[in-house]
Amino acid sequence: MLDSSAQAGEGAWVALCNSADLVDAGTAVSFDVRYQGLACRAFAVRYQGQAHAYLNRCSHVAMEMDWQPDRFFDPTGRWLVCATHGAVYEPNTGECRGGPCRRGLIALAVQEFGGVVHWRSQYPFQILEY
Ligand code: FES
Repeated sequence: MLDSSAQAGEGAWVALCNSADLVDAGTAVSFDVRYQGLACRAFAVRYQGQAHAYLNRCSHVAMEMDWQPDRFFDPTGRWLVCATHGAVYEPNTGECRGGPCRRGLIALAVQEFGGVVHWRSQYPFQILEY
């Protein structure tokens, strides 16, 4: 994890990981956020070259989705899958594509600059202070 303290205000871009840490359809980088006032887990993945980040919360039942720590892609690398009942999500958008999901994943804004992936700290997403 990179030091984000210099950019840690409301509406700031928060450093998450080096761009090289996100491999296409590979292992995610998980992180903590405050969402609507609650501490939540989130994750970032890369798909078709683009970084994306979502709350780690299935829309079927509000549970974390990874089948092993930081593993969200199915074996083909095409879909994000919830380990509990198999809901299937589009990696580019978080839209529900199959299984028992009721709607899409909750996306965080992501940008890459300077070789670093950043997420946007702006309501309803805020930095989780410990
Ligand atoms: S909790 Fe994710 S599919 Fe049921």
